[in-house]
Amino acid sequence: MIVKSVLYMMTVAIIVSSLQATEDMSKWLRPAEVPQPKDNQLTPERIELGKLLYFDVRLSSSEKISCATCHHPKQGWSDEVPTPKAVGHEGAVGSRNSPVILNTAYQNRQFWDGRARTLEEQALGPMENGVEMNMSLDELIPKLNAITGYVKLFEQAYPGEGLTALTLAKAIASFERTVVSGVSAFDKYAMGEEGAISDKAKKGFELFKGKAHCVDCHDGFNFSDGSFHNIGLKDGELKGKELGRYLTKNRAAWYGVMKTPTLRDVTKSAPYFHDGSVATLHEATHICGNGGRFKHNVRNKSTYIVDRELTKQEINDLVSFVETLTGPDMELTIPIKFPQ
Ligand code: HEC
Ligand code: HEC
Repeated sequence: MIVKSVLYMMTVAIIVSSLQATEDMSKWLRPAEVPQPKDNQLTPERIELGKLLYFDVRLSSSEKISCATCHHPKQGWSDEVPTPKAVGHEGAVGSRNSPVILNTAYQNRQFWDGRARTLEEQALGPMENGVEMNMSLDELIPKLNAITGYVKLFEQAYPGEGLTALTLAKAIASFERTVVSGVSAFDKYAMGEEGAISDKAKKGFELFKGKAHCVDCHDGFNFSDGSFHNIGLKDGELKGKELGRYLTKNRAAWYGVMKTPTLRDVTKSAPYFHDGSVATLHEATHICGNGGRFKHNVRNKSTYIVDRELTKQEINDLVSFVETLTGPDMELTIPIKFPQ
């Protein structure tokens, strides 16, 4: 009898440990294929052209600001000079924190409130925005058409389509689709390299999927469900851009909701949240995991935002895990010479 139950226990132990060993980790790994629209498939010419445009300050009215000013590779594709709210044309301060453009190729919706669907649709917004690049397309398209070097490159990238707002957006979007996260310590771990992350980070990963419930929203390889939530950063009535997705449609369920940001390379892009109100990953984790910044009087707070009573130690473990999601910087030569 004793022998039998010992054998039984051993069998159970073996099954449990082999289950753990075979936990399907593939959902955490970046899909090999970058999604790309049928009418704008990636080609080397399109990517190269998009890169030049992305870094070219002539796309702004002051000729001082490019996309990279607010989404710079040196800062994990966030503000070149970290600020809580984006700083654009003549020092104007925008109403939201610049998100990273890393892995935006995999997002179904762009902007904190998801108001643009595709990268093509998104790309023209900042140029015309008075507090970003302040450059109307009616001025910009003729300006670019007067630069023969660009006209040539557009013809090579989009033969017969011309240099228009549409091809401009397509080229920039093509470059953005190449801005994807590299292989981090966590990815090595997910691919089976046991020693790639510390025991502390492993504890953090278990908390992330378990007690802390981070995975309810930060799910999949990009650590985002692509959905929108109000995590309780403010109490009382919300105003202006704080209203989040509610601004795009007055649905009660969209009041104050913002898109779940990726956690890939997140160590590089402080400050955090749509309002840039948080400086450290510890504080961000505390807010997301322990019931939001405000516990009461928050209209439409997500039901996933619950006080999980995470201890200091547990928050440290979670942060250690999140740190393993940082990979090497993308190999990239930032252009210094532009078409004339
Ligand atoms: C002055 C700073 C600034 C400049 C310049 C700027 N952006 Fe942004 N960008 C922002 C801010 C702020 C947001 C978020 C706005 C919002 O959600 O309402 C944003 C959002 C985005 C997003 C959406 C990312 C996501 O995860 O939802 C993309 C993509 C993007 N910008 C690309 C660009 C491109 C391409 C250019 C150049 C044509 C550019 N940006 C120029 C500040 C800037
Ligand atoms: C209800 C869904 C939800 C849960 C659960 C959740 N988050 Fe978040 N997280 C978000 C959203 C949405 C934001 C952006 C909120 C904003 O700016 O208004 C965010 C922002 C963050 C940020 C800042 C990222 C940046 O680039 O600004 C970090 C870090 C973070 N979460 C980590 C965690 C951790 C760790 C956990 C588990 C303790 C967790 N989150 C649980 C939805 C969630």
